Amino acid sequence: MWIILCTVVLFCLLFRSQRKRIFASLLTRTSMIHNEKVRPQKLEMFGQLKSIKSCDPKLRESNEIRILEIGAGTGANFEFYPKNCRLVVVEPNSFCEKFLRENAEKYPGIKIEKYVVKPAEEITNDDVKFGSFDAVVSTLVCCSVDNLSATYQLVKNALTPGGRYIFLDHILHPPPAKLHYVQRFLDFTGIWGAIFDGCKLSRSLEKTVLNQGFDNVKTYTFYLETDTLLSIWSFVKIHVYGTAFKPKSNS
Ligand SMILES: C[S@@+](CC[C@H](N)C(=O)[O-])C[C@H]1O[C@@H](n2cnc3c(N)ncnc32)[C@H](O)[C@@H]1O
Repeated sequence: MWIILCTVVLFCLLFRSQRKRIFASLLTRTSMIHNEKVRPQKLEMFGQLKSIKSCDPKLRESNEIRILEIGAGTGANFEFYPKNCRLVVVEPNSFCEKFLRENAEKYPGIKIEKYVVKPAEEITNDDVKFGSFDAVVSTLVCCSVDNLSATYQLVKNALTPGGRYIFLDHILHPPPAKLHYVQRFLDFTGIWGAIFDGCKLSRSLEKTVLNQGFDNVKTYTFYLETDTLLSIWSFVKIHVYGTAFKPKSNS
């Protein structure tokens, strides 16, 4: 068991670019499984987007909204988007683009305005127009970014004043459950991150998001249904989802 694990970790560390390619090709399948597990939560989160009126007068006329999705992967969330939307994607893994565009063909209501191959932390106003997004979406991304504050800063920069951020992620299980210590061990040793493209298990995102200067932050924690103790999903059993708003003014 340990020999297999060490070989996998070593392979992942030695072949970083291959890891990204493999990760992208596996993402469509794993996202589908994940979507089934979190369907009620995603329906609730994304359902809120239907009532938004765009800050862009032209889009308001055509009943469309503009969304920025951070770390969109291969487009796991497309099935939950409102019918008429313009989408800008920020995704550092270039191998995801082909799968995402293929997936988008199934959803004619989604127009991809721009696909930016960069990490969220490095996005500037030249990459995406700050203040022009009615909503920002991230699912299973804040567990992976290197710099959480810079990522939340992008969310605030991108949103129009009063704009909505919706998010979902797995989080650190509270102690004294065994899972808490297993998650910390897998992060401390770097094993989990090496296999899952930099993902971290031990982030308390339900708390972190509260201190980022958003208004009206709402978070809800829930547990995934997992079949066996050793299923991959049992390591990310506890999730958070929620909404936060960019303040309407600086005061
Ligand atoms: C587990 S996948 C989730 C994909 C998709 N959002 C979903 O829910 O299935 C994590 C995604 O975050 C992306 N990612 C990792 N670090 C990132 C960063 N710094 N900025 C933006 N996206 C990032 C990865 O490339 C990957 O596509």
